[in-house]
Amino acid sequence: MNDNTNFVTPHEMAIQAEYTQKVREMIKDKELKTFVYTLGCQQNEADSERIRGIFLSMGYTLTDDETVADLIMVNTCAIREHAEKRALSVIGRYKHNKARNPNTVIGVCGCMPAQEHRAEQLKHSYHYVDFVFGTGSLHKIPEYVYNALNKGKRIFVKENEKPSIAEGVPVVRESGFKAWVSIMYGCNNFCTYCIVPYVRGRERSRKIEDVLNEVRELVKDGYKDITLLGQNVNSYGKDLEGKPTIADLLKEISKIEGDFWIHLMTSHPKDASSELIDAISKSNKIANHFHLPLQSGSDNVLKRMNRHYDKEKYLSIVKELKEKNEGIVFTTDIIVGFPGESDEDFEKTIDIVKSVEYDSIYTFQFSPRKGTVAYSMENQISDDVKKARFERLNDVQNEISKAKNEAMIGKTVKVLVEGKSKNNENIYSSRTEGNKIVHFESDKDYTGQFINIKIIRADTFALYGEI
Ligand code: SAH
Ligand code: SF4
Ligand code: F3S
Repeated sequence: MNDNTNFVTPHEMAIQAEYTQKVREMIKDKELKTFVYTLGCQQNEADSERIRGIFLSMGYTLTDDETVADLIMVNTCAIREHAEKRALSVIGRYKHNKARNPNTVIGVCGCMPAQEHRAEQLKHSYHYVDFVFGTGSLHKIPEYVYNALNKGKRIFVKENEKPSIAEGVPVVRESGFKAWVSIMYGCNNFCTYCIVPYVRGRERSRKIEDVLNEVRELVKDGYKDITLLGQNVNSYGKDLEGKPTIADLLKEISKIEGDFWIHLMTSHPKDASSELIDAISKSNKIANHFHLPLQSGSDNVLKRMNRHYDKEKYLSIVKELKEKNEGIVFTTDIIVGFPGESDEDFEKTIDIVKSVEYDSIYTFQFSPRKGTVAYSMENQISDDVKKARFERLNDVQNEISKAKNEAMIGKTVKVLVEGKSKNNENIYSSRTEGNKIVHFESDKDYTGQFINIKIIRADTFALYGEI
């Protein structure tokens, strides 16, 4: 059996380059504009940056005004019901664009239509959508757009379980100093609540040299904060020749000269090895921040979530990370209201939150996803109970966040300046290595640069300081 990852062939990429050229010819002198709407996680943000790259290479220009766009792409998410509802409502309003201008080309991609029932829904109820694909055919956009411009048949792509990786797709990055770099795609873990493995296919890693080259280029171009993306970055490389590990990759990245931070998104506790923790502590490039999704503090719930770790294992990783990395910032994801979660189970989650003392947490109310195991589990929890647990957990965390932020008063921290805060002319926002927001006043614009700030005030969600 060959488990190795496939890469899109140069021949296929050349075919797409021809379509790009044909579209360029067709639309030249027409000054056509494009708008990309993105929902979901950083993985989708990263994909949308490539979608924009492709659109620009075809001769479109970007617009912020969706009402005047000639080419619209909606990149969707399916992680919770709310995300799908939003996607459908966004797609719904583009009906008016097509009514105003029948030449508008509209595409939908991402995790939502990677589910067959959603692709069918788009086919039958959203007739103005020209092409639909999931997450594995992004490099074929030039072909789909060319077809739509020529009023060809609507395209609905059925994604493969093991999609290939396409290198060399152009990218237009949103920021000039923060960048996403996908190091792997897909997920093999099948946590029982999660739709991702069904919509993003099996795990596959980019070659270490391709990742390193991208990071080198970014650093050369002045990027200061680079996030390595994957649903479980800890299983990076398992499908590659020579089986490089995430620790190997981090060691190589740490050798790149320059002043920059590396973040990881996301690490699965079941695979967080000492080798990885050591690689983090030995490098001054890897941010002293670890996002370690807990999901639940109850062993019973963790088991039914198919997470492959228990409370003891989780806490031992936290302990090792804290011991080897002084002042490390911890963040996590937690689901409340998983089927069968008792009050006692929930209290165990609260206990861990209190004992780990996260800097911040992302809390989600369980949303049953069609096709997953937890969708048809018995003892679904009522919305009222979910909401009450959600609020209680956030109250507990907010106190911890506030205390942790207040403990920073008087300290001087290195921050990356992100730009002006919306309301006030001279107030800027920045982020610490641990992703905490720091506001400060300045006459000079340091956007995109590292500076040192002395913290003078703190509340639950932000720090305030002076240069
Ligand atoms: N691969 C990452 C998570 C990606 S999804 C990981 O394993 O950590 C981001 C978060 O969404 C998850 O950590 C989980 O907390 C939440 N989530 C996923 N499916 C969910 C569902 N059905 N209902 C509520 N929250 C969910
Ligand atoms: Fe979903 Fe679990 Fe995979 Fe994360 S590891 S994407 S939560 S199945
Ligand atoms: Fe959503 Fe897909 Fe990301 S379901 S959270 S966009 S992987």
